[in-house]
Amino acid sequence: MRDWGKESEYLHSTRRHLWNNDYFEFLVKCVWKIDKPVKIIDFGCGYGYLAQLFLPIIPKGSTYKGIDISEQLIENAKEIFHDNSEMVSFEVADLNDYKPTAEYDVVICQAVLRHLPNPVQILKKMIDTAKDGGLVICTEPSRRLENAGVYIDSTDFYPFKNDDYLEQKWIKEIKSGGRDYQIGIKLPIVMERLGLKNIGVRINDYVDYVRSEDKDEISRFLSDHDVDSEFSDSNGFVAARCHVISYGNR
Ligand SMILES: C[S@@+](CC[C@H](N)C(=O)[O-])C[C@H]1O[C@@H](n2cnc3c(N)ncnc32)[C@H](O)[C@@H]1O
Repeated sequence: MRDWGKESEYLHSTRRHLWNNDYFEFLVKCVWKIDKPVKIIDFGCGYGYLAQLFLPIIPKGSTYKGIDISEQLIENAKEIFHDNSEMVSFEVADLNDYKPTAEYDVVICQAVLRHLPNPVQILKKMIDTAKDGGLVICTEPSRRLENAGVYIDSTDFYPFKNDDYLEQKWIKEIKSGGRDYQIGIKLPIVMERLGLKNIGVRINDYVDYVRSEDKDEISRFLSDHDVDSEFSDSNGFVAARCHVISYGNR
């Protein structure tokens, strides 16, 4: 199993380029209509990135709890939010062992189901953690969309170059009981099947765009999107992350 505590730097770097705050606020206020204090739980919260998005815009009196298997990331989260301990809490927990109780208004996960061999089982647990009428939200990439979202302005860039390799890799992973490369795009259907109501689906509108003058940003981009360093002299870099945001009520 991948130890995300050891990839904290990568996690922080990619999270700085993952959401437009205005789009997240639009979802919270206009789509999910969170206008009263809510109790939120974040499955696989990492260092609490989603709490950073939620806190400034959710109604006063709301609470957020993050759970994650990585002791190191939970430690990091507690340091980041030490001034908000009344509103925010974190706990080390393996989602496989987590015992759901139906007490949360909002149950969310981001980029977690994509890494798990049993995403449907964990989604079921998320549903069981929501109150009746509570909102379950999953924001997860679909690898083919994510891969298609990358463009490098260079004559050497060939967008189909890795397609055969990735096809083999992803199919091998899923056949051997590993992660599902299409989980993001499948989730609305899985949610419907598991009994959620009022299913909605959106796409995260963030596009990571780097111009050719900014060398530090270029190396950050290449690392975040796993692009070969041979492209570091290219003229421009674009990556649409294409996370699929699926949600529904219990
Ligand atoms: C890609 S990171 C996403 C973190 C966070 N949701 C975010 O978007 O910044 C995946 C997270 O899932 C956590 N995770 C993976 N398997 C887990 C499990 N079985 N139980 C709890 N957390 C798990 C990892 O430790 C890691 O923090």
